[in-house]
Amino acid sequence: SWTTGNVIDEQVAAIQAQVGTKRAICGLSGGVDSAVAAALVQKAIGSQLTCVYVDHGLMRKGETEQVEKDFVAATGVQLKVVDAQERFLAALAGVSDPEEKRKIIGREFIRVFEQAQAEIVAEAPGDQPVEFLVQGTLYPDVVESGGGTGTANIKSHHNVGGLPEDLEFQLIEPLRKLFKDEVRMVGQELGLPDEIVQRQPFPGPGLGIRIVGEVTRDRLDLLREADAIAREELTAAGLDRDIWQCPVVLLADVRSVGVQGDGRTYGHPIVLRPVSSEDAMTADWSRLPYEVLARISTRITNEVADVNRVVLDVTSKPPGTIEWE
Ligand code: XMP
Repeated sequence: SWTTGNVIDEQVAAIQAQVGTKRAICGLSGGVDSAVAAALVQKAIGSQLTCVYVDHGLMRKGETEQVEKDFVAATGVQLKVVDAQERFLAALAGVSDPEEKRKIIGREFIRVFEQAQAEIVAEAPGDQPVEFLVQGTLYPDVVESGGGTGTANIKSHHNVGGLPEDLEFQLIEPLRKLFKDEVRMVGQELGLPDEIVQRQPFPGPGLGIRIVGEVTRDRLDLLREADAIAREELTAAGLDRDIWQCPVVLLADVRSVGVQGDGRTYGHPIVLRPVSSEDAMTADWSRLPYEVLARISTRITNEVADVNRVVLDVTSKPPGTIEWE
C-alpha cells in the first residue's frame, strides 16, 4: 500500500543500487521538487551527493538566499553555487519563442552541471566519478512533456523534454511517479521544514517563461519587483495556502496608453494569474478578494516603473496552461 515510508524505503534502495559507490549531483532550484529529490538522494547516498544551485538570473527576489540558508540548514548537504547570470542572458538574447526559450534554458542548465561536475572531480580527483544527475521530475511533468506515455506534448518542462540529446549524465528521478501533494508528504517525512515543503510551485525556467517577449536584464528586474509585491500582498492577506500558485507575467511585447501624474504613459501590462489546483494538470482561476487585487494593482503601478496596467487572468486550465509559456 502507498505510504510515504514505503516510497522512501523503496526509492532509497533503488538509488543505492543505481549509484553504487559513484557520485551524483543534484540541481537545486529553490522549489519543493528539487529539494525533496535532493533530500531523498542524500538519505540514500549521503556525501556522495553534491547539490548545485545555478543562479541563472531568472530567479525571484530572495530565492538564492533562501536556498543557501534554509535548505543547507535543514539538510547539511554539500552545496555549490554557480553564478551563471551572464551565460543565460547571452544565450536567451533575441529569443521570444516559448519552446525555444525552454530548450535554451534546459541546455544551459546541463552545460553548467557538466562544468560543475568537472570542478567537483578536480577538487577531489581520487574519488569516484560523478555520473548521475538528480532531477525532481514529477508525474505530471512526464505526462505533459509526452514522456513515453504517448500523450501529446504540451510543453517541454525543462527537466524532461528540454534536456539535450548528448547528455553525459545518467538521470536519477525518484519523484517520477508522484504528484505534488505526495512529494510534499515525502518531504515532510524526510524532515524538511514547512518553508520548503509548503512552498508554492515555481517553474525551473523561472521568470524566463514569464516574460512574453525577449528576456533582458531590465525586464527581469521589473518583473522581479512586480512579483515580489504580489507575493507580499498575498502572504499578508493570508492567502498562500488557498491558492496553488500565482504566476506574475510581464507582457513585454505589449504596450498600452495610460496616464500617471500629469503625463501620458506608454507602458507594459502585468498579468496576475492566481490559480487553484490539486495537481497542476487542471486548474481554475482563484476568486481572490477584490481588495487584495486592488492593493496589488495599486502598488505595482505605483512602484514598478514602465508598468501602467495590471490585468487578471480569468482562464481555467484547460484551455489555458498555468504558465503563459
Ligand atoms: P503549466 O503551465 O504546464 O504548468 O500548466 C503546470 C505546473 O508546472 C509548472 N511548470 C514547470 N515546472 N519546470 C518545472 O519545474 C518547467 O519547465 C515547468 N513549466 C511549468 C507550473 O509552474 C505549474 O505549477
